[in-house]
Amino acid sequence: MNFRTALLAFSLATAATACGEDAPAPEKKVEAKPEKKAEAKPEKKADAEGVIRLEASDMMKFNADRIEVEGTKVKLELKHTGKMDKKAMGHNFVLLKPGTDPAVWSGKAIAAAATDYVPAGDAEMIAATKLIGGGESDTIEFEVPGPGEYPFLCSFPGHVAMMKGVLVVK
Ligand code: CU
Repeated sequence: MNFRTALLAFSLATAATACGEDAPAPEKKVEAKPEKKAEAKPEKKADAEGVIRLEASDMMKFNADRIEVEGTKVKLELKHTGKMDKKAMGHNFVLLKPGTDPAVWSGKAIAAAATDYVPAGDAEMIAATKLIGGGESDTIEFEVPGPGEYPFLCSFPGHVAMMKGVLVVK
C-alpha cells in the first residue's frame, strides 16, 4: 500500500464513519399555534360606584355577553341606547338560575306577554328589569344565592338568539 492508497483508504474510512454517525435529520414539527380568538364582546364589571352598566341597542344586542361580579349583591342598570319603541325593539335583562337554558326558558317568557314577557313568580328566574324602549333605562338590585354562572337574556320574543350571556359570580 503506497502512501496515496493509504490516504485514500483513510479518507474513505473517515467518510464512512462520519456518514454512519450522521443521525437522520429530525423531522421538523410545525407546531400549530393555538389561535386566540378575540372575545366577540367585552366583559362587563361593576364601575367605581358598584353598578354594572349594561346597554342594549336597536341592533338587538347587549354590549356584553359576560358579566363578572364579586359578591352576591348585584346592582345593574340596563340602558336602551336605541331609538325604537319597546313594542318593536323592547329589551330587558332577565337573570336565570345556573343550568337553565335561556333559549328554552324564553318559550315561557313569550307566553307572558301580559307582564312584558316576564312570567311572574317563575321558579327559574332570579331577577328581571322592566321591559324598556329606546332612550329608557332601568336599574335593579338583587342578590344571587352564591358563586356560580348565571345565564341572562332579553326575554322579548325572538331576542334570545342574539341577546344572552352569562353573569359570573366569584
Ligand atoms: Cu331585547
